Amino acid sequence: MGRLDDRVAIVTGSGRGIGRATALRLARDGAAVVVNDLDNGPAEETVGLIVAEGGQAALCVANTVDLDDAKRVVQTAIDSFGKLDIVINNAGTTRDKMFHGLDDELFDFVLDANLRTGYHTTLAAMPYMREVAKKEMAENGGRPLYHRKIVFTSSVAALMGNPGQFNYTAAKGAIIAITKTLARELGPFGINVNAVAPGFVETRLTQAKSDGDTYGIPEQMRQMSLMLIALGRLGEPEDIANVHAFLASSDSDFISGVTIPVTGGQLGGM
Ligand SMILES: NC(=O)c1ccc[n+]([C@@H]2O[C@H](COP(=O)([O-])OP(=O)(O)OC[C@H]3O[C@@H](n4cnc5c(N)ncnc54)[C@H](O)[C@@H]3O)[C@@H](O)[C@H]2O)c1
Repeated sequence: MGRLDDRVAIVTGSGRGIGRATALRLARDGAAVVVNDLDNGPAEETVGLIVAEGGQAALCVANTVDLDDAKRVVQTAIDSFGKLDIVINNAGTTRDKMFHGLDDELFDFVLDANLRTGYHTTLAAMPYMREVAKKEMAENGGRPLYHRKIVFTSSVAALMGNPGQFNYTAAKGAIIAITKTLARELGPFGINVNAVAPGFVETRLTQAKSDGDTYGIPEQMRQMSLMLIALGRLGEPEDIANVHAFLASSDSDFISGVTIPVTGGQLGGM
């Protein structure tokens, strides 16, 4: 018995990094998982890893910034597994630039990739989460059969501020606020809405960056971050996946509207 048996989940951006670790973890806990990513190859690989472990997974390559694409991701859950219970809004990315050099294109790109993506995926899920819960409530004396779960992804950068991330912290800070709003709107339907705020996690977003690299951060900043982490190590994708699995499960049924920092006790970001 897994704690997510009979649950159906979407994990956006699960071709790599935290999303992949989360998709694998939810599948190990018993959920059927829709693996979504922009990139086909890595997403197929995640599906393969889940299936190789005996789990259930379906693939939907889509850019969740686009509402029609987000609807396709949701439709994949319905077509493949018949319902939708859990949405993990993990897709996101960085394009760092010091504020004085920022332009609208970089600002909009990062706002879309980190905020609009979760907005659209969650909106597309409403007919299969809110409406289904409402119907259950009408048939079961005002209670849904079980709690459904939505998780957003903020960042320690939004809690502490981070040079070069005006665009990213604008999006990740907004996520903390919309998590509270949506928790209030959807709570009456037994839908919990929470967020994780990862600290420094080893993925391509935090790899050592050389001049011209799209992703990563300067090695000096990597070392500085390590010094600020009370537990003395950088995070691994599985550290975040563990919290996603908790927030997706009934163990968190009385938690809603919060953003959980998962930072190893990063000073200033707790
Ligand atoms: N790595 C960290 O230290 C860290 C810290 C704080 C927050 N985060 C957040 O965690 C999440 C995952 O980051 P990661 O470090 O695993 O990054 P990653 O780049 O390793 O993986 C992100 C995946 O999301 C996909 N993706 C991006 N935009 C997408 C879109 N519009 N539609 C579908 N897929 C999309 C990418 O193709 C990629 O495979 C992001 O929201 C990120 O901002 C990461």
